[in-house]
Amino acid sequence: MTIHQTSTAGLDGVAAAVTALSHVDGEAGELVITGHRVGELASETGFEGVVARLWSAAGGKDVAEADVRAALGQARLAAFRRLPDILPATRGMPIVDAFRAAVAAIGPQQGLTPEATLVGALPVLAAALVRQAAGDAPVAPDVTLGTSADLLKMLRGEPASEAEAKALDAYLVTVSDHGMNASTFAARVVASTQANPFMAVTAAYCALSGPLHGGAPGPVLDMLDAIGASGNIAPWVDAALARGDRLMGFGHRIYKVRDPRADVLKAAVDTLGVSKADLGLAAEVEDYARQALARAKPGRRLDTNVEFYTAILLDALKIPRDAFTPVFAAARAAGWTAHAIEQQRTGRLLRPNSVYVGPMPA
Ligand code: ACO
Repeated sequence: MTIHQTSTAGLDGVAAAVTALSHVDGEAGELVITGHRVGELASETGFEGVVARLWSAAGGKDVAEADVRAALGQARLAAFRRLPDILPATRGMPIVDAFRAAVAAIGPQQGLTPEATLVGALPVLAAALVRQAAGDAPVAPDVTLGTSADLLKMLRGEPASEAEAKALDAYLVTVSDHGMNASTFAARVVASTQANPFMAVTAAYCALSGPLHGGAPGPVLDMLDAIGASGNIAPWVDAALARGDRLMGFGHRIYKVRDPRADVLKAAVDTLGVSKADLGLAAEVEDYARQALARAKPGRRLDTNVEFYTAILLDALKIPRDAFTPVFAAARAAGWTAHAIEQQRTGRLLRPNSVYVGPMPA
């Protein structure tokens, strides 16, 4: 066995933080965020509500939802004012890279906390970069709207329907935080050095962008497009697995049963009137892929993860697939900023050991 085949290489099962923010039970298929099951949270509160809960739990003092809503609105305006400086440096870059550069350009704003500055800025940057790629001017934020409705308006240049804003809100809540995932761990490592939250969130986004983490939903749609029709599902999936490819939107380090977020997002998709034909193909691909993975990797318990229905939901909201990861980041920034605050309150530098397998001096 080589070192990268050991669980040490992936820190499997290692508890890297003590947190009051979220808990993932992979055997029960349950995600709890600040004491609430994800499905309940998505139906009972909006994005600003979950941000208030996360920041309250992280900082150990109550943050009111109304204050979050007001601060995020001001932060969207502040980010919009910075766009003339930020956008020119990102022209010609793929959106996922342009977003990295844009996030890195965000810094302290007078009258706003770093966490509000960041969580307010990311939707503005995502929308502006999508529009820039299409040759369109950015659309100013509307502080009377919540983050979800405003993000869709800034993307499209016209208001979204209430159902669309609600569906996006369910997504933002659902993916707002998720235990010690790779990008959150990156945020906590950076925050543990007492670097500021702008550094922590930039690092977290870089970790999120990879296809094994938040870069998966675009490729999920590529897979559905490549399959195209029912009759192609079995040959396409079987050939991919025979080549040793990973099927995007399936498998998870923690969940050994279906990811509970997939069901919340599937319910949100159902409210959008996506054509039965498109949903039917996705459902057939999901069924077949689960069976094929069980045959190809017996005992591994690979099931549908959040990215499968993320792809279908964000596509139904007409968000271009190269912006899926930035939109994911706009939601997960809620968790990243909360974890950065929580980590800094411990005052403890994250500095693990490694297992040396190289030669020793004679
Ligand atoms: N398709 C095919 N095979 C898979 C898949 C998959 N989606 N996922 C895991 N496997 C295989 C692995 O190749 C491995 O096979 P082996 O034992 O023969 O070597 C076995 O199943 C176990 O996989 P691990 O790599 O140990 O699983 P790990 O916990 O490291 O991986 C991961 C989790 C990275 C999410 C993986 O399942 C994957 O690559 N999935 C596809 C990408 C994806 O959907 N990413 C989004 C994840 S959700 C999120 O981050 C928001």
